[in-house]
Amino acid sequence: MKAHLITYGCQMNEYDSHLVQSQLVSLGADMVDSIDAADFVLINTCAVRGKPVDKVRSVLGQLRKEKALRPLVIGMMGCLAQLEEGQQIARKFEVDVLLGPGSLLDIGKALESNQRFWGLNFKDELHDHIPPPPTGKLQAHLTIMRGCDHHCTYCIVPTTRGPQVSRHPDLILRELDSLLGAGVKEVTLLGQNVNAYGFDAGAKLAGYPSFAELLRMVGASGIQRIKFTTSHPMNFTEDVAAAMGETPAVCEFVHLPVQSGSDRVLRRMAREYNREKYLTHIAQIRKHMPEAVLATDIIVGFPGETKEDFQETLSLYDEVGYDSAYMFIYSPRPGTPSYQHFQDLPREVKTERLQRLIAVQKDWSAKKNARFQGSVQEVLLRGDAYSEGHLEGHTRGNHPIVVPKALGAVGAGLYQARVTATTPHMLYGELVGVDGQTLPMVPNFLPEAAALSSPLTML
Ligand code: SAH
Ligand code: SF4
Ligand code: F3S
Repeated sequence: MKAHLITYGCQMNEYDSHLVQSQLVSLGADMVDSIDAADFVLINTCAVRGKPVDKVRSVLGQLRKEKALRPLVIGMMGCLAQLEEGQQIARKFEVDVLLGPGSLLDIGKALESNQRFWGLNFKDELHDHIPPPPTGKLQAHLTIMRGCDHHCTYCIVPTTRGPQVSRHPDLILRELDSLLGAGVKEVTLLGQNVNAYGFDAGAKLAGYPSFAELLRMVGASGIQRIKFTTSHPMNFTEDVAAAMGETPAVCEFVHLPVQSGSDRVLRRMAREYNREKYLTHIAQIRKHMPEAVLATDIIVGFPGETKEDFQETLSLYDEVGYDSAYMFIYSPRPGTPSYQHFQDLPREVKTERLQRLIAVQKDWSAKKNARFQGSVQEVLLRGDAYSEGHLEGHTRGNHPIVVPKALGAVGAGLYQARVTATTPHMLYGELVGVDGQTLPMVPNFLPEAAALSSPLTML
């Protein structure tokens, strides 16, 4: 079998794709990198907004045409697959294999059966399963929990991924060990709401650490960099900020989605915190980790959001001074309370607000990134080329950074880089060291490096 896997959605989906890919390989499949070369195409889907659903529809349309011309098995997995909406789409586009996010380990059974196979159960084995480490990668995801116990009124995730189930710490540490053994240097702990780890349905699980304790345990493993996502402000506690500050491997990066700066909107979203409480968390993070790079998620144009409400989002942005933000136009999702009960705002209102927010974000990101000019940052180079002569990587603060190749910098690894230019989206630098040692310098000031280092060329 020649299998091609397409992944949409968040890092949880990337992790799940890796897991399913390793199952496919162990079943004897060859992974190929185009639809044309495949006889099994599997799409890992996202349902969080309308756009990713439209994308799946269009790829499935293309696949259905292919299937009329040659033998082709079509598979759909992930969040959309779990929804009635997704199952309708699957029927329409003649999908053969459909696996919800809890049924991924059924992939073998699904491919063996000679008829349509739909798996929609949430099975515990998924938690016990330790996928093999990604080959040749220094960065890896590690799922510490699945599902979500919150009920934000706009969000479909609790429906697609079910209630929160924390993974046993022994399994997490075993998976971490296997990653370490494979040479992984940076791990991102994943969950819809990692701060609630160990408290499923609101109750403390016996034998499970809290998230703060888990951070310390992972920090003691010898891994060099730890990131985690996502944090829900409602479950954020100061001991998490303290554990971050006291665990050297935990990177100076926090993604704390705020969604809105208006208390009225936050109430209507059922976010269970207000602006003041949120700002307390930011203050705690800054107290324990003064260098923390702060990122957030914001939804603009939530139903009923007034000009004044939106103004409060802009003012909160200024008050926090975020380094970066993921900004989304509210997308009504069938099956969510806000879809059912609230009237969507006109498209023009939503896009105009998004434009204004993006302008504020760009200003802040430009200012925040400029503070790194001239500094030396620890960079994890992924090893793939950004362009000929340049490599791409990430700092501890999660900034993408591009550096010209230097002698001794043969590819993937942890390096020190001096930042030579910044834009709102990116840092540019030159390699100055590897593993704490100074690099033998070469004239790495190639003409194209000079061009790339100019922020203006990126506009
Ligand atoms: N569990 C994570 C979020 C998962 S979804 C958390 O709570 O932080 C990622 C982001 O998508 C959310 O933070 C939110 O900003 C956005 N989002 C979710 N539902 C949305 C919708 N219906 N319309 C627009 N954006 C949405
Ligand atoms: Fe969705 Fe809210 Fe759960 Fe995040 S915390 S996944 S936004 S319901
Ligand atoms: Fe999308 Fe599911 Fe992730 S809806 S954002 S893939 S949790």
